[in-house]
Amino acid sequence: MPPFTVPENVQQDGSVACEKPGSLARGPGAKALTMEERFSLEANRRQPSSLRSLVAEFAGAKDVVSLAGGLPPPSLFPIASLSAKLTDGTEVSLSEPARSQQYNTVLRGFPSLLSWCSELTARLHRPAGTYETLITNGSSHTLEMVLNLFLNPGDSFLVEQFHFPLTTEVFAPCRGFQPIAVAMDGEGILPDALEGTLAGLWSRGEALPKLLYTIPAGQNPTGASASPERRAALYEIARRYDLLIVEDDPYHMLRFPDGPDRLPGLSGLLPGYLSLDVDSRVVRVDTFSKCLAPGLRLGWVTAHPTAIAKLTMNVQAATTGPCSLTQGLVSDMLQAWGPQGFESFILNLQRVYAQRSQVLHDLCTLHLSDYAEWERPAGGMFLWMRLKGVDSALELWGDMRREGVVAVPGSTLSLKNSPPAPFLRLSFSQASDVEFEQFCLRLRRVLEARAGPALERQVDKLQV
Ligand SMILES: Cc1ncc(COP(=O)(O)O)c(C=O)c1O
Repeated sequence: MPPFTVPENVQQDGSVACEKPGSLARGPGAKALTMEERFSLEANRRQPSSLRSLVAEFAGAKDVVSLAGGLPPPSLFPIASLSAKLTDGTEVSLSEPARSQQYNTVLRGFPSLLSWCSELTARLHRPAGTYETLITNGSSHTLEMVLNLFLNPGDSFLVEQFHFPLTTEVFAPCRGFQPIAVAMDGEGILPDALEGTLAGLWSRGEALPKLLYTIPAGQNPTGASASPERRAALYEIARRYDLLIVEDDPYHMLRFPDGPDRLPGLSGLLPGYLSLDVDSRVVRVDTFSKCLAPGLRLGWVTAHPTAIAKLTMNVQAATTGPCSLTQGLVSDMLQAWGPQGFESFILNLQRVYAQRSQVLHDLCTLHLSDYAEWERPAGGMFLWMRLKGVDSALELWGDMRREGVVAVPGSTLSLKNSPPAPFLRLSFSQASDVEFEQFCLRLRRVLEARAGPALERQVDKLQV
């Protein structure tokens, strides 16, 4: 597990003192809300576009003469055919050029891609309840929609102490949502800390949060991955406090706990919270960004059908769905690969990330072990490093810039007002082996320069 220390702001109940939640209403053990009852005021007010729904309903219908839609005729579209050569040599040609240049008349997504995503979710996560899927523009898009679906201004939500800050830093302040951070270790949120946070809020008469936002595998930034036992414990607490769980899982397939020689492939991956979800409290957020390419801007969300229906209205109004051409091409690519081809592609990703993380780990061991500690990453894209004898990694920022090294200080990945943290997030996704070594040597110089005076002071004391 990555080395964690309990920072000063973790209170006795396990919550991380930063922000105050809003006002509240329901306590532990309360009857679970229905999905409709969970919706925010905005979501309740959201209606489908009647024009777009009508056009979608009759699009492609047989024996119906429709003069309803403002859809351009396919004969006027510019692209007659499109083909792509994949990096593994597979040739793909766009099978539905007309549909791929048309509006998304099937609102939940390009039909063949939608089926592919639902089938993969069923295979990997074996959902315990009834679910539907919606194609999105990736996780960032989905997360904003999902927070707005459930939270009203002033409502609180729970996050890992260190987390991908989009929800807390960007979305929450705009809407007045209140994030509450919970202490974590190398498996993510600590169940006792979660329980303590919730019980503490309740006993103080403060609002209980509505949802838990979690990154369950290869967490950004710490690399934490929750074991089945940890997931089961957190799920039980979520049930007791009737919390939704929003699992944002972009690193799900990037797992390599046993190194490059024993990769899990797809069949060895741990299923997400969806597999535990007997009462539809999980919203699962997937993206193609880390398993295919981020520039595709494609992802999918899986949740109870009532939630998916509302999210579909959101997509229908805001974007009319992701680019049809991209959806068509990605779908054709996945069909051309078939299940085996996709699995081989993922195996290669796992191998490359496992190798890169191993190289970075080894170089850190060689050059930095006097000054820092960390665990060999088992998934994701990040090595989470704790700097010894440093209160705040931010303090090193100037020196690091002068030496020409950049990594993300942990405190920028926690709530504002959090105390200083001695952590750095090192990404092993892009740099070369040579650059990894340069990084380690330069960071060592920074840390040596800092530690030097400290050592001298100790010697001075001994001499006195
Ligand atoms: C945890 C997490 N969620 C979401 C995203 C954004 O994903 P997308 O490209 O699908 O918007 C990232 C990207 O780094 C991430 O680390």
